[in-house]
Amino acid sequence: MDTTQKEVINLTNLPEDTSSQIFGAAESLRSMLMQYNCAIREVKTKLEVLSDEFSAQNQRNPIEFITSRVKSPKSIMQKLHRRNLPVTLESAEKNLYDIAGVRVICSFVDDIYSVADMLIEQDDVELVITKDYIKNPKPNGYRSLHLIIRIPVFFSDGKKNMPVEVQIRTIAMDFWASLEHDLKYKKVVPNVEAVQNELRHCADTIADTDMRMMKLRDEIDRMKVQEIAKFTAEKDEESEKSRAGER
Ligand code: GTP
Ligand code: MG
Repeated sequence: MDTTQKEVINLTNLPEDTSSQIFGAAESLRSMLMQYNCAIREVKTKLEVLSDEFSAQNQRNPIEFITSRVKSPKSIMQKLHRRNLPVTLESAEKNLYDIAGVRVICSFVDDIYSVADMLIEQDDVELVITKDYIKNPKPNGYRSLHLIIRIPVFFSDGKKNMPVEVQIRTIAMDFWASLEHDLKYKKVVPNVEAVQNELRHCADTIADTDMRMMKLRDEIDRMKVQEIAKFTAEKDEESEKSRAGER
């Protein structure tokens, strides 16, 4: 028998009470995950509105792209186990704030804080926790701004304030985090510290590049402003001359 077969419960062999309990629990889980999915949609809509507005008003958009996920039932269970919490849906709803997760990938470092501020300022958004791993990177070099927010979601039986974890980072930070996550080195490498040092080194290099890109953007913006001012001054001078010629 392979491992997938082992996990299958044959509901037909169970007493009716037990199988209906299992179906009931599955239904409650499905309903809970649906609610978190709705919370994600609310947050994504808010971010997409900000993004559209920016695109219409400015030459560039601070948001590159947005991704999201609802935590899998297995991860929810494992996290509750890890934290020695009751493994129930009530416990998950009460204790876990990252069942709904939204990730916002920004162009530049200062865009992260602009996006975070614009989201938090909205009067239906309650900020629960901020973890700034950009100002205080993790020992392995991980950088991102994490916000736990609560937003109201309106269901047929009333309003529910749902927690959502919002991770905001630059493309460069996301590149590092994605690769670091895929390495899964902790269980196989004897000297975890050495790997962490190397990862930290890569993360620091990336953070330095992020800063230089931001300075470059500011420099180019300044030059654009100067160029426009020069062009306008030349046009003014030209029309002044032609008016003088007409007189
Ligand atoms: P979790 O139990 O993982 O949720 O940790 P936590 O509740 O202490 O929150 P924390 O802010 O540390 O991390 C939450 C999430 O941030 C993780 O689930 C990851 O998505 C991301 N994250 C945190 N640290 C790292 C890291 O070192 N590497 C990568 N790739 N992602 C990280
Ligand atoms: Mg998490």
